[in-house]
Amino acid sequence: MSESIYIKSPHEIEIMRQAAKIAAGARSAGRQAVKDGLTTKQINKAVHEYIVKNGAKPSCLGYEGFPAAACVSVNEEVIHGIPGRRVVRNGDIVSIDLCATYRGFVGDCAGTYPVGEVSEEAKKLIEVTRQAFFEGIRFAKVGYRIYDIGEAVQAYVESHGFSVVRDFVGHGIGRGMHEAPEVPNYRPERGRPNPRLVKGMTICVEPMVCAGDWHVEILKDGWTVVSVDRSLTAHYENTILITDGEPEILTMADDI
Ligand code: MF3
Ligand code: CO
Repeated sequence: MSESIYIKSPHEIEIMRQAAKIAAGARSAGRQAVKDGLTTKQINKAVHEYIVKNGAKPSCLGYEGFPAAACVSVNEEVIHGIPGRRVVRNGDIVSIDLCATYRGFVGDCAGTYPVGEVSEEAKKLIEVTRQAFFEGIRFAKVGYRIYDIGEAVQAYVESHGFSVVRDFVGHGIGRGMHEAPEVPNYRPERGRPNPRLVKGMTICVEPMVCAGDWHVEILKDGWTVVSVDRSLTAHYENTILITDGEPEILTMADDI
């Protein structure tokens, strides 16, 4: 049994746009704090302050006990890194993932950014992960189904010699940070429900990509997800709206 997918009204979509705009701005603020010598905690602070200044709530803070506004994940850390004393250094790549709740609706986005000059492999990984999102959303249209998105993400990523994480997936979003349906970055085996895309659905498409093997594990802190082979990883996410035509990227910003 799968939960039903909540289709947003035009009024709800308007609020989603506002929540998502704040989330996008917070990602940009976090990105600007990705600098040699700063701690992951300082990066989180930039995100947190932006969200609060714009009248929204940092939805990750306290979510299932997560202790910060942003997940800040370095190098082999894929997602859910807990901000702390770790200092980011030239050559690192830093993933920032955050949600903002505004007037009862959530916007969610993520991105991976280089610190100073990074390796050619790291640059390619960041670019392939970002482009995989755009390859995926070519199918985020009425007439296709959820898994068509993930199939396109996976094909693109694997064609560049990288792999997609299977243990974590994208999701519907609205009043809840996580709503039905699940939005995997691969095509699951046949027989699983594969919903049609419908106008008014709001979903998060979020490729999580490993430079090496796709298997991940959770560290002893109970949150941080790392690649088992400790290969570099990247993440890119936007909240999107299914429309009559092209999808609308609600967490769009100039520098995404
Ligand atoms: N933003 C994440 C997502 O894409 C969720 C963060 S988990 C939290 O689903 F615990 F930090 F909230
Ligand atoms: Co998400």
